[in-house]
Amino acid sequence: MDKIQNIFAGLTGQEKTGFMDSSQPSLYVAAGAIAFNPIFWNIVARQEHKTHFLTKTFGSPHYGCYALAVTIFAIGVIRDSLYKTALEQQPIYPPLHQPEVGVVLFLTGNVLVLSSMWALGVTGTYLGDYFGILMDHKVEGFPFNVTDAPMYWGSTLSFLGTALYYGRTAGVLLTLEVFVMYLGALRFEDPFTAAIYAKKEARPVTRSMTKQKERKKA
Ligand SMILES: *[C@@H]1O[C@H](CO)[C@@H](O)[C@H](O)[C@H]1NC(C)=O
Repeated sequence: MDKIQNIFAGLTGQEKTGFMDSSQPSLYVAAGAIAFNPIFWNIVARQEHKTHFLTKTFGSPHYGCYALAVTIFAIGVIRDSLYKTALEQQPIYPPLHQPEVGVVLFLTGNVLVLSSMWALGVTGTYLGDYFGILMDHKVEGFPFNVTDAPMYWGSTLSFLGTALYYGRTAGVLLTLEVFVMYLGALRFEDPFTAAIYAKKEARPVTRSMTKQKERKKA
């Protein structure tokens, strides 16, 4: 039945239905981009912390961090576009085709991502602490009173929302990959940034910021 529908779909320009098409290379390209991004920014940020190569190249910690921010933002845009292309080349799986739920999740995710960027600023969002640009105090308000890592979980929600909007099984699987990558990133980043802030706080000071973990990026 799927086959007949798909032949019609080809003729009428409607989209195919089916569970998933794992033979599409675009699926693996998107999976690669999703894995690459957090690995990339963690390697670069730790290298910067160790050698200050971006600070030296761009003349100051702030310019170095802006350069990294632009790069991370750009590879994020590329990843999102590869994700969308991958979904377009997948069949629709009707039980997962939930456009209304998709829109709600996507918007919720974007509110979390954009509001945390607003709360943190550019250097707070894009790993400024690795450049020695530390936050003066922990950001406690929205969206950090809803979740510890609003960038990451907001981004994950946006991926899931997109998958359900288009009704693609592959999108849900790629979202699972996003989730696992961000979970791993948090495990890797949090102890390191905690140590950066602990060093700062090594002098006797009034308040602890060792849980300073809100420089997440989408
Ligand atoms: C989070 O803080 C905002 C104000 O910054 C407040 O309006 C909201 O109710 C708070 N949410 C929770 C879950 O505490």
